[in-house]
Amino acid sequence: MFDKVLITKEQIDKKVKEISAKISEDYKGLNPIFICIMKGSMFFTADLLRNVTTPAQLDFMCVSSYGSSTESSGVLKIKTDLTTDIENKHVIIVEDIIDSGNTLYNLKNLLQTRNPASVKICAFLDKPDRRVREVKVDYVGYEIPDEFVVGYGLDYNEDFRTLPDVRILSRSVYEK
Ligand code: PRP
Repeated sequence: MFDKVLITKEQIDKKVKEISAKISEDYKGLNPIFICIMKGSMFFTADLLRNVTTPAQLDFMCVSSYGSSTESSGVLKIKTDLTTDIENKHVIIVEDIIDSGNTLYNLKNLLQTRNPASVKICAFLDKPDRRVREVKVDYVGYEIPDEFVVGYGLDYNEDFRTLPDVRILSRSVYEK
């Protein structure tokens, strides 16, 4: 089912702490709001915020560019919007992965129309080979090759999100 474990739980824990420390330093005194992009980002966001030492806020959005397909449609669907007004706030969008870039490109543009003080992006995984939209990722965990990865929030047809590590899904699973 899986070709291999790409990123172990120990590597995840270490990287999350590094990113949290950097964000805590960069946002000292700014009371940033972290926006968890559901569903994939919920584990990463929770781990990140447990380690952020500066006061911060949290909100969620449910968005999708994929449906049940493995190819991005390029059209962002907002399924659940924020409950917080982000005007004049320092926003950090938290994603599990940036792939084509469509989701974060459209989402950042959308949030910028709400007049925040700033908007930055934090993505645990980055697949640069797949990019079709140029997007600046301000905080990144790991750059990974163009493989179908699951675990630590990432799914295939809603399965495998709860795996504690990031694994490469075998082609035989998604090409059948
Ligand atoms: C995944 C991921 C990002 C997006 C990245 O979400 O969480 O939001 O795809 O891909 P892109 O850079 O090509 O736009 P998905 O739509 O699969 O929803 P999920 O988080 O609920 O799994």
